Amino acid sequence: MAELIDPFNRRIEYLRVSVTDKCNYRCGYCMPPQGVHPDGRHTEYLDADEIERIVRAFAELGVKKIRLTGGEPLVRKDLPDIVRRIGAMDEIIDLALSTNAHHLARHAETLKAYGLQRINVSLDSLKPERFEAITRGGDLNKVLAGIEAAQQAGLNPVKINIVVMKGTNDDEIEAMVDFAREQGVQVRFIETMPIGQAGIGVMDQHYPMEKILARVRAHVGDELVPLTSRSHDGPARNFRLGNSDTTIGVISAVSQHFCETCNRVRLTARGVLALCLGQEDSVNLRDPLRDGISDDELRQLIIDAIAKKPERHFFNENVHNIQFREMVNLGG
Ligand code: GTP
Ligand code: 5AD
Ligand code: SF4
Repeated sequence: MAELIDPFNRRIEYLRVSVTDKCNYRCGYCMPPQGVHPDGRHTEYLDADEIERIVRAFAELGVKKIRLTGGEPLVRKDLPDIVRRIGAMDEIIDLALSTNAHHLARHAETLKAYGLQRINVSLDSLKPERFEAITRGGDLNKVLAGIEAAQQAGLNPVKINIVVMKGTNDDEIEAMVDFAREQGVQVRFIETMPIGQAGIGVMDQHYPMEKILARVRAHVGDELVPLTSRSHDGPARNFRLGNSDTTIGVISAVSQHFCETCNRVRLTARGVLALCLGQEDSVNLRDPLRDGISDDELRQLIIDAIAKKPERHFFNENVHNIQFREMVNLGG
């Protein structure tokens, strides 16, 4: 079978599909206060048929893992239908969703029945008022209900993403570790990344991985056992808590990039294939698709795009130049 190998000999097996750049929350590190593309017309976005066709082309080229992202994927009414279509593809062995979980409670069972396997939830505080401030209007109770519904529906594992921000939520590292233990979820602490104006704006609150780990270690002591493999080939460095199933991860794109093992590309909601989170290189798939290209031509377009994948990001050297896309457009 055909495979996607980039110029640095990395096998691309993972496609992150952003289904919308809209979100019902407005986290400051992800979206500028005024939002993005408020004028985005409906026809600019890929419809479910187009998403299905592109994902199928990737699956035929060896992609095995799909993550649906946003903005917030669940603000899109046809998300369950998109999940059902991708869930029916035999080649896709890992189908996951990154969500803020606000609307998850009422969808969890259907999504699971349609083939969704697992979810990652953004949750930056366990204090209702602080949560509301960080997300600019979010409702912690809804998110917690969404997490519970996901667990009951059998979406497993549930991973919680916490972007750690100095002076905002860095006092909750220990509470999040306890939450992981009590709820049976996996928790990952994320360093802020300088993507877009919003991401750059929050870099003065950057809290480095080593400090996060020192805090976790001080809290749980000998119980923190390093795991050698990265779960699901993700970017996190993971640890197990004692003999339990609970894991704690750290994602540190800035202090320790993981580009050598990068296995992914991103499709934006407007049908642009973004080849690296921190570089501008991209290829428009939507317009050729709408001009009527064949399946063979679509696969060739993807193969040619992967040949342009850059080696790595330069967050550390070039922090002030990464303004071309907001995180909310890229889906993380
Ligand atoms: P798993 O498959 O569960 O490991 O998911 P994931 O960690 O790849 O996805 P998720 O959407 O939960 O993203 C968690 C964090 O990792 C976010 O802050 C993403 O921006 C970041 N991330 C994901 N992929 C990459 C990548 O290729 N490069 C960088 N620098 N960060 C990434
Ligand atoms: N830095 C680090 N992580 C970010 N995310 C969004 N913006 C940033 C940023 N600037 C995370 C969200 C979400 C994941 C998909 O991306 O917290 O969990
Ligand atoms: Fe919405 Fe997630 Fe971005 Fe927050 S991080 S604004 S919840 S897309």
